[in-house]
Amino acid sequence: MARIVVLTGAGISAESGLRTFRAADGLWEEHHIEDVATPEGFARDPELVLRFYNARRAAAAAATPNAAHRALARLEADGRHEVLIVTQNVDDLHERGGSRSLIHMHGALTGALCARCGHRWTAPAVMRVSDPCPACARPAARPDIVWFGEMPYRMEEIWQALRRADLFVSIGTSGNVYPAAGFVADAGHAGVETLELNLEPSAGSRLFDAARHGPATRIVPKWVAEMLGEA
Ligand code: OAD
Repeated sequence: MARIVVLTGAGISAESGLRTFRAADGLWEEHHIEDVATPEGFARDPELVLRFYNARRAAAAAATPNAAHRALARLEADGRHEVLIVTQNVDDLHERGGSRSLIHMHGALTGALCARCGHRWTAPAVMRVSDPCPACARPAARPDIVWFGEMPYRMEEIWQALRRADLFVSIGTSGNVYPAAGFVADAGHAGVETLELNLEPSAGSRLFDAARHGPATRIVPKWVAEMLGEA
């Protein structure tokens, strides 16, 4: 049994119709990161920020898991390997694709968080600035998403899993955002084998022991079939 930690990014959901961030037609071409993905941006213009994430939530709800999400779920369900998926994605396509062992390190569109008291609850389809927090009643509802300048969730758990893994696989991420972009080096230092599966070489591609390039719906199911001894 191999212990496998899989890091995923926007590229795994691209073929489900969800836009990535850094492509020529990506989300960060149309929106300024500092306006919609920082606590300061939210303090300045909460309506703009909620509108941005309401649109992301609607797009994610309309999308369906693709063959890459489903292949990872199949790898976990097979039981021959211990699989942990660490996703930077805020959509819920991994869980809808059947994955159970999953960490949303950048939070999730399905969650709401009170910016004043820290209470968490299930986000409605459309969040509004006037929404009161169910715990403290103040109108400070924000998406439960990790913004730039904030600490990603469950990092100790992730680093521990990385250190004790046999294999680290990075799928559909450009390798621009830390700490996730540093996982390949962390794994390498711990003697863990590393593999990149991405449309094209990522920023840190050279740091991986091996890399395969192509669309996730093609290369992820193929890799999973190999891991299960079918190919
Ligand atoms: P990016 O948009 O930076 O990178 C997406 C990667 O997926 C690129 O390397 C693409 O080449 C690759 N890709 C695109 N289509 C693909 C396909 N069909 N199959 C395989 N790979 C494909 O997205 P992330 O790396 O996920 O954080 O971005 C990381 C973080 O930056 C996000 O979680 C978000 C963003 O700012 C926050 O908002 C905090």
